[in-house]
Amino acid sequence: MKFIPFRLLSVVLLTIFQTAAGAFAADSPREKLLLDFGWKFHLGNEWGIGQSLAKAGTGSGPADIWFSDASWRTVNLPHDWAVELPFDPNADGSHGFHPVGPGFPQNSVAWYRRTFALPKADAGKRLWLDFDGVFRDCTVFVNGWFVGHHESGYSSFRYDITDVANVGGQNVVAVKVDASQFEGWFYEGAGIYRHVWLVKTSPLAIAPDGVFVYSQFKNNMPGKTVEIRLQTQLLNSQTNAAHAKVHYEIISPEGKAVASDNESTRLKPWAQRAVRSEIRFRSPELWSPESPKLYQLVTTVESNGKMVDRQETTFGIRTVAFDPNKGFLLNGKPYVLKGTCNHQDMAGVGAALPDALQYFRIARLKEFGDNAYRTSHNAPTPELLDACDRLGMLVMDENRLLGSDAANLERFKGQILRDRNHPSVAIWSICNEESRQSYPDGGRVGAHMQEFLKQLDPTRPVTAAENIGDTYSGLMGALEVRGWNYHIGQDMDNYHKEHPLQPEVGTEQGSTVSTRGIYKNDPVRGYVSAYDENAPAWAHTAERWWSFFAVRPWLSGGFVWTGFDYRGEPTPYSWPCINSHFGILDTCGFPKDNFWYYQAWWTDKPVLHLLPHWNWPGMEGKDIDVWCYANCQQVELFLNGQSLGRQTMTNYSHLHWPVKYAPGVLSAKGYTDGKVVSETRVETTGDPAAVELAPDRPAINADGEDVSVITVSVADAQHRVVPVASNLVHFSLSGPGKLLGVGNGDPSCHEPDVFIPQSPVRTVPANDGWRWKKLPNVYNQRLPEFRTDFDDTNWDTANVQSDSGPLGEQEQAVFRTKIRVSEEDLAAQAVELQFNRIDDEGFVYVNGRRAGESHDWQSPAVFDVKPFLHPGENAIAVGVSNWSGPGGINQGVTLQFAAKPVAPEWKRSVFNGLAQVIVQSTREPGEIRLAASADGLSPATVTIPSQPCAPRPFVP
Ligand code: GAL
Repeated sequence: MKFIPFRLLSVVLLTIFQTAAGAFAADSPREKLLLDFGWKFHLGNEWGIGQSLAKAGTGSGPADIWFSDASWRTVNLPHDWAVELPFDPNADGSHGFHPVGPGFPQNSVAWYRRTFALPKADAGKRLWLDFDGVFRDCTVFVNGWFVGHHESGYSSFRYDITDVANVGGQNVVAVKVDASQFEGWFYEGAGIYRHVWLVKTSPLAIAPDGVFVYSQFKNNMPGKTVEIRLQTQLLNSQTNAAHAKVHYEIISPEGKAVASDNESTRLKPWAQRAVRSEIRFRSPELWSPESPKLYQLVTTVESNGKMVDRQETTFGIRTVAFDPNKGFLLNGKPYVLKGTCNHQDMAGVGAALPDALQYFRIARLKEFGDNAYRTSHNAPTPELLDACDRLGMLVMDENRLLGSDAANLERFKGQILRDRNHPSVAIWSICNEESRQSYPDGGRVGAHMQEFLKQLDPTRPVTAAENIGDTYSGLMGALEVRGWNYHIGQDMDNYHKEHPLQPEVGTEQGSTVSTRGIYKNDPVRGYVSAYDENAPAWAHTAERWWSFFAVRPWLSGGFVWTGFDYRGEPTPYSWPCINSHFGILDTCGFPKDNFWYYQAWWTDKPVLHLLPHWNWPGMEGKDIDVWCYANCQQVELFLNGQSLGRQTMTNYSHLHWPVKYAPGVLSAKGYTDGKVVSETRVETTGDPAAVELAPDRPAINADGEDVSVITVSVADAQHRVVPVASNLVHFSLSGPGKLLGVGNGDPSCHEPDVFIPQSPVRTVPANDGWRWKKLPNVYNQRLPEFRTDFDDTNWDTANVQSDSGPLGEQEQAVFRTKIRVSEEDLAAQAVELQFNRIDDEGFVYVNGRRAGESHDWQSPAVFDVKPFLHPGENAIAVGVSNWSGPGGINQGVTLQFAAKPVAPEWKRSVFNGLAQVIVQSTREPGEIRLAASADGLSPATVTIPSQPCAPRPFVP
């Protein structure tokens, strides 16, 4: 077994959920519980909008509390259903050819349901549902009540569900998600792809996102003493006025209390109030990507001598600014932004990343010297920012759309309040490449947004990603910092000359295209050579953009498009290509050769890298262009021990030699000041002989969330990865874990990333034997007509398949039949009784026991009847109450048997020698074993210890 060491990452992940110093959390009524586990999921919508526009609290279909989701698939969040869909050449290429969105209504709407209990002790508390993000347009119901509708697929939102919660009983959250529309031009996923939380607070509490903490230094230059500004928004959700005492304690990165303060205030009934204060202390430890020191602010609120709230806020002490000549300043000093832009998806999981993958990705980016991350083109998930805070990565936090309309500002406000305590967030970007960017209206809207933002966060500079040349009109002149997307060259120099007082930054550069391990463009298979030679018309090679920026400090450095490949935008080709080629890393995070270009010029590590690989059978004696990335002064190249000459490196460039191919060893030595400072070699490998597995970390946490990212390689007999291997590898897993996804970074691979357990549903008509009789009051649950043994032989027969029933206005009746089921039938995972229409209301009894109610005559009603059935004959009785028009049981009745899910077989081909498997822990500690095999190769197994840990609090 091999480990890919990620020391830094392991340490952070092991400590991430431990609370910082400061006890008494248990004394606070506040609870933040993860609501990710055990959701039921159904793709499709057979029930309409779920919401009655006529009467409140009467959600229909899945929004109804009686609705059965027993046959639905169980999923844990984060969940993305788009990644589960097969690739389809007719689907939108910019979104990655998954058949979801415009043109695919059958795959674009889905429902999620989650049932949970609230203990009696929650009486009197305020209860909130917090969604980190849902793609998109979702309607949320709690216990049949509509609680909210949220359109944006990228912003977080929350609902106060106190009034409709069933404290001391069961509660059902139903979420209808409609991904029929796109928001962007890249893969966006579909579903509840970020966390959901249940938050409980006392009625007098810190308001959601109510704490703001930031540091200030004189002239924005760090000095001996720091001034910490504190602001707490209190919320009093009760009919009494209240006194509140807010206590602050600041805990240093080493866990020591370094400063504290108190403020008191009085709140009116049902009112909010902000409390402000300042604390100074000496010798602050500054945050930076190189030294991500984090402080904790512990805010407690007391009222009438009792603690009513307590919240910990992680923050950092640092200054950020831009100077028109020196560029970006971190902690008062010029700091070159060596950044990447990124979308949020990854191989294997689509847009639904467990938190550990955020850490995995940030750690990968840091390896080549990336110190800044642009959340293109939307608000990120909050856990990404946590990873950036802890691992040390500056963030350009981008808003989705330009717009000063009320809805857009409200959304933007949510993003600012949520993100403004993160030390990693250094710059705001209000939009990307907007069509109105250079027009006066675009400028006015941008200026309004900038002003709005400054009111909520006076500490950070503002820019926008602008893909227009030497133009000052519109947004360009309106915003504090000029952002440059592309347009390298004279435009930039001219602009800088003409506007010497405006700072500038490369918001988006590069867009270099390359495929890992490919050295010749191949439009048929959709691969682009990994030599740094290809970029679309508007874009540049890595070397072109960086050598321009590196020598112009006023440009502040910039952000490469992109750090990782992402699904969609398969530039420069289309189908069969399904993902982009812009990444320095592929969709799995495997490096392409440009990784070493950046590492050479963005880090101080000695770098010496040769490309291409050295497996070229048939090319003997022919020229191969050998490139070298290095940061030493000279490089000497050797083939099979023979020198091919020494060359001198130019800053921000590369070296190359034409080499007549002969199999063997291509090697190089790097020299600085005449001494060998680095060596490397590339070898011709033998044929594939073995599968090898290497997890990224030695152990993971048994918290049901953590993941192990396992590199799968196909190696020759000497354990050298075969750079052209494409073997299909089969996986099986045992122990307390599950396979979450697979990938290989191949931009044209159409193999599935996830394998879904299948549980086929068998549908049997239940239309026979129905009889009916009018009765005055079917609301009476004790009617003998509902009982099993009631004799209905002389009732009229009923046709339950017609379009309209026999009942007249304001009439009621009981309908009865008998159904037979076998023991085998009852072994199904779920048995459901579906009434296609009960007009208007229905009360369903199985063997005399109440199985459910239905209050919507326009959509099917489905009941979980397995608990009430026994082998043999079973009595079904339905009380129907008709309000207007004709009524009854219409359009047919069915019994549905959902088989137990069958575990799928997982497999994936390696691409140029490599693939990736993501394995997730359960909450049970133990050893997870992953086995991998491929035809003709020796198999491999790896054991991943899943260690006992305290999982973060969750809703059972
Ligand atoms: C930019 C755009 C990105 C991406 C990129 C591809 O113009 O902002 O979202 O489409 O082009 O080069």
